[in-house]
Amino acid sequence: MPQITWLGHSTFSLTLASGEVIVVDPFIDGNPSFPSGYEFSRVDTILVTHGHGDHLSGVPGLAGQFAPRVVANYEICNWLAAHGVANTVPMNFGGTTAVGGVTVTMTPALHSSAIEQPDGRNVYGGNPGGYIVRLEDGRAVYFAGDTDVFGDMALIRELHAPDLAVLPIGDVYTMSPRGAAVAARLLQPKIIIPAHYGTFPPLTGTPAELQALVEVPVWVLTPGQPVTW
Ligand code: NI
Ligand code: MN
Repeated sequence: MPQITWLGHSTFSLTLASGEVIVVDPFIDGNPSFPSGYEFSRVDTILVTHGHGDHLSGVPGLAGQFAPRVVANYEICNWLAAHGVANTVPMNFGGTTAVGGVTVTMTPALHSSAIEQPDGRNVYGGNPGGYIVRLEDGRAVYFAGDTDVFGDMALIRELHAPDLAVLPIGDVYTMSPRGAAVAARLLQPKIIIPAHYGTFPPLTGTPAELQALVEVPVWVLTPGQPVTW
């Protein structure tokens, strides 16, 4: 059975039935909700939704340690390659690629994606996105990335029918729980895992607010504690 582990903020580790490990949006140094003492034992694939540091900053370290394939939009892959990351897999919206025994499809998001440089300049980071991961058993997980709710989530439902939706709920930089409740109506997942909340004081949305608005179960994960799904 696949396992999903929240590592705080928008960072997730997905262990597949094959044993392969997919890490989404690694944010380790500077992530107050990253579980202390957590050690990665294996990373086969990294999925990057967009160029902001709270989604991208952990990539070079994990890439150096585990040499995974790194899936991101074309522009972020170029930037990563220029910064010493090998095995990049550039994609764009609507495309699907096989990674390990599963497939990954890039979906749009309503956000921004600049890559902030140490001197404060913003480098163009392509368009922000999300991912559908289609597992070996046919079920699909949707990692929405940072986004507001958008009407084309209905198309994501039509095309991919995700069973599990990982949605940001923190507000300010993404949709709020109220927005996520509308996303749930459009996506019709069987389970929601909320993310991108509570990490920093401005991210005030809570899972309880979302659960009060939706029938579908909202799983509140504890960082570092895997759940089998
Ligand atoms: Ni962002
Ligand atoms: Mn973010």
